[in-house]
Order: sequence, then structure tokens, then C-alpha cells
Amino acid sequence: MILPKIRKIKVERYIGGLSKFRKIDNPIKLSANESALGASPKARKAFEIGKNEIFRYPESDSNYLRNIISREFKIKPNRIICGAGSDQIFDLTCKLFLTGGDEVICTKFGFIMHRIYASLHGAKVLLAKEKNFKSSVNEIIKLVTKKTKIVFIANPNNPTGTYFTKNEMINLRKKLRNDILLVVDDAYFEFMNNSDFKSGLDIFKNSKNVLVTRTFSKIYGLAGLRLGWGYSTKKIIDSLNKIKPPFNVNRAALDASVEALKDKKWIKKAINHNTYWSKKIFLTLKKNKIITNKPSANFFLMNFDKTKINSNLAFKKLANKRLILRKMNQYNISNSLRFTIGNASENKYFIKTLGSILK
Ligand SMILES: Cc1ncc(COP(=O)(O)O)c(C=O)c1O
Repeated sequence: MILPKIRKIKVERYIGGLSKFRKIDNPIKLSANESALGASPKARKAFEIGKNEIFRYPESDSNYLRNIISREFKIKPNRIICGAGSDQIFDLTCKLFLTGGDEVICTKFGFIMHRIYASLHGAKVLLAKEKNFKSSVNEIIKLVTKKTKIVFIANPNNPTGTYFTKNEMINLRKKLRNDILLVVDDAYFEFMNNSDFKSGLDIFKNSKNVLVTRTFSKIYGLAGLRLGWGYSTKKIIDSLNKIKPPFNVNRAALDASVEALKDKKWIKKAINHNTYWSKKIFLTLKKNKIITNKPSANFFLMNFDKTKINSNLAFKKLANKRLILRKMNQYNISNSLRFTIGNASENKYFIKTLGSILK
């Protein structure tokens, strides 16, 4: 029997962080780099008020939100596109630029969605080598060929927690040909206290061949509403607008995000919380002989080579105590787990439990 033929799709499926493990009650989810404090109360109120209007379509071009973003970050609204998560911006960008035979460069342990979308849109993905979980401008440039169309960098990167300094980013852009688009994923930039770091938007506001992405899923605590945005030249943004689905950002996301952006006190609180706990957790990990990255974003990549038990057993032992971390199998990072900083009581419980399972 002849059946509808699905095109050949050679792409791996994204595996998200687990929310629960077996039948363990009241799991503590520290597996998806979500916000430790949740969304701003003002954002939640706007979400609540907006519920009477959910029978109406949302604005198709996220106009109101783009204007608020424009004022906040001092950028032009017609150079911003909003999407259902920054995820959708990666998807649309790959769709816009890539055809079969093109090449995309990602870093070896770079955020996996970049390479998934690049493959999905027919490109060959090349992975730049890393040393101590960080790639370099040289390793990226070595992979450039005539066919290179896009280079993706998450800065800081998930799941490694490492980052390119401001100077390295400037150097990378300088060394790439002008007709190669550099995508800088700023998902975690708000958490960064490191003096040699600058966000993609700060560095490349006036660049003609960079696209920067931002998300409401991390510091703003709106991961469940799916909202992110991209910033680039007017020409690129106009073209992305042509191919985006008409109502790609939902009403609830638009309502809540405007208030989340305005609530400076809440954002500050979330940053301070992260700064405080990342220092504390870093010291705890070191004390327990876990090899990890220096504090950067809201997570740590934990390697168990020097501990009595390996990462699989640690995962099980922690999960049996309700703590769900992220396995690193999909990233091919051996003997490691990723931990997301939680709220104060979750962190205290994690510190105590980790000490007890590694004794
Ligand atoms: C580096 C990085 N970029 C983007 C995202 C996804 O963001 P969004 O929820 O906006 O699609 C994540 C989520 O974990 C991430 O780690």
C-alpha cells in the first residue's frame, strides 16, 4: 500500500529536564535552569487579569511588548522580533538562512537546540573543539569554509557554565567573514557578575551580521508561557517577520512579560539570590570534590570523577531524596550532572543531601 511519505529527518530529539522520578512524592525540580524565585507577583497579577480576554487573538506582531523592550534596552522596536521562546527565534533564523549543503558551526558542548534546528533545516553542523568545556575563537575559525552560514554561541553557555569574554566575542566577529551570521544567545546574561563579560546585545547593538536572542524563561521566571525575542538588522527582522506564524506569541505571555520587565525590584532580587547561592554552592561542590565551573549563570555542571560514587548513582541517590538534577547523556558529557540553583530551602536541602550521599 502506498502511504504518505514523510521526508527523511535526521535529527535528534531534545530531552528536557525531568520533573519527577519514578513514584517519588514532592520532587524538587532542579533540572531545567528555571527561575529559583518564580515570576514577579506583578507579572502573575497581569496574567490573572488577562484571563477574561483569552477568547481574543493576541497581537500578531507583539507591538506593545516590542515597544517596552525597545525603551528598556534602548534599541529600535523594528529591529526586534518576539517568538514562542527564544527557541522559535533559532528555528526561524535557521529557516531563513539555511538550505541543504550549508554549514553551521556550534561549540562541542554548546546549547543543543542550536544544532537541532540547524540540522532540521538541512545544514551540516560542525562542532568546535573545547578545552575544559570552553571553545576558542581559533577552534571556531578553523571550521569555517565557503559553506559556513551561521555560528551559534550561547554566552554564557548551557550546560557548561563557561563563557566567552567581551574581547573574545569581538575578536570572533572580526575573524568571521561578513556573510556569516553570528547568533549570540543571551539567555543567562542577567546572572553574570564577571567583569570581563558583556551581553551580546551590549557588544553587537550596531552590528550588521549578528542576531542576539533573549528569553523570558530564565531571570523573569516565565518559562511556561514561552516567550523570547531576537534583535538584528531591520532587514533580517523584516524577513523573519515574513516567515513567522501569525500569532506566535500568546496573550498570557504578552500580558505577563510587560509587567515582568518593569518589575526591577524582582529582577534585582532574583539576581542577588543567584549571586549569593552560586558562591555558596560552588564552595559546597568543591568541598565535596566535585569538579565544576566557576559561578556564572544559575546552574553548575558537576563532574563526579573525584568522588566515591559516579554521576548515575548520584542521580539516583539524589532523586530518591526528591532532588531531580539533569543527566548529561544527551550532551555526551561523561560522569556529570547539571544542578540548577533553587530557592533557599531547596538549596539548603541540596547541600545537606549532597554531603550525606557522598560520605
Ligand atoms: C542557552 C539557552 N538558550 C535558550 C534556551 C531556551 O529558552 P526559551 O525558553 O526562551 O526557548 C535555553 C533553555 O534552557 C538555554 O539554556
